[in-house]
Order: sequence, then structure tokens, then C-alpha cells
Amino acid sequence: MIPFTFFATARQDVSIAGHVIPAGWQVMGLTWQTSRDPKAFRDPTRFVPDRFAPGRDEGGGTPSAYVPQGGGPPDGHRCAGEALTQLLLTVLCARVCGHWRWTAPPQDFTLNMRLPPHLPRDRLRLTLERR
Ligand code: HEM
Repeated sequence: MIPFTFFATARQDVSIAGHVIPAGWQVMGLTWQTSRDPKAFRDPTRFVPDRFAPGRDEGGGTPSAYVPQGGGPPDGHRCAGEALTQLLLTVLCARVCGHWRWTAPPQDFTLNMRLPPHLPRDRLRLTLERR
């Protein structure tokens, strides 16, 4: 659901896949697009948690395909709270999914690309019921 990652400023002219980003331009990593790249992920729009399981490890062969908290080496462009976040989100998911039933009513999940941040057109509406 998080459509983009870091903001940065190009310190020098950079050429990526034939596109030149001039020095001084603001740059934003668009994880919404990279997370849906079929070269990195099989059937990318399906929710398949097992795609990150050991042995399957989709995205691992494509550098910077899965970079929700930055990319590169641990001391590079990475979130300092990465390990803590993984622990907290695991606990949060276990508690929230264990005690609440989630349903998403029909809505428009497509992103409004005209607005930063690119939020779903209907935002994200959920109904939570205690189990
Ligand atoms: C889902 C939760 C989180 C996401 C998606 C996230 C994502 C990110 C991203 C994309 C960056 C920029 C990496 C880069 O390009 O340099 C970053 C940096 C950072 N994050 Fe997080 N983060 C999360 C949670 C946290 C938490 C819980 C903490 C602290 C307890 C934290 C602390 C930091 C710090 C200090 C930096 C700056 C690191 C640096 O510049 O050296 N983050 N985060």
C-alpha cells in the first residue's frame, strides 16, 4: 500500500535505462511500480505472502525490486528501524488478525497518480469486527 519510498536530490547527472536525471532534480523511488514488475515477481498483483518464503525468494534476483525500507547494503540507503519494524509488524499482524475480522467493502483501489502521495482513489476503507 505504500506507493513510494525515499526522496533524494541527484548530486550529479544520472542515466538510468536511457533516461537522464539532471543534477539538482528531486528523485523519488516509486515502489508501487517496482513491486508490480513481472520480471521480478510472478503474478505481481496477487497477494501471495509465500513469495518471500525461503527457497522461493521472489524479487531476490532483481536488485532493488523489493525495497520498502530502502535498498543496498545494510549501511547504505536503508531504514534504521528495519529490524524493529519487522518485529513490530509481526506482533501487530498477529494481534490484529487474531482478534479482528477484516473486510474491505467494494471500492476503487487504483492509485490516483496525480497526487503525491499516490493514495487509492477511495483511500482504504475497511470494516473491522471483533472475532
Ligand atoms: C513500515 C515502517 C517503516 C518504513 C516503510 C520505513 C521506511 C524507510 C525508508 C524508505 C527510509 C529511507 C531509506 C533511504 O533511502 O536512505 C527510512 C529511513 C529511516 N528510518 Fe524508517 N521506515 C519504517 C519504520 C521505521 C521505524 C519504526 C524507525 C525507528 C524506530 C525508523 C527509523 C528510520 C531512520 C532513523 C531512518 C534514516 C536512516 C538514515 O538516513 O541513515 N523507520 N525508513
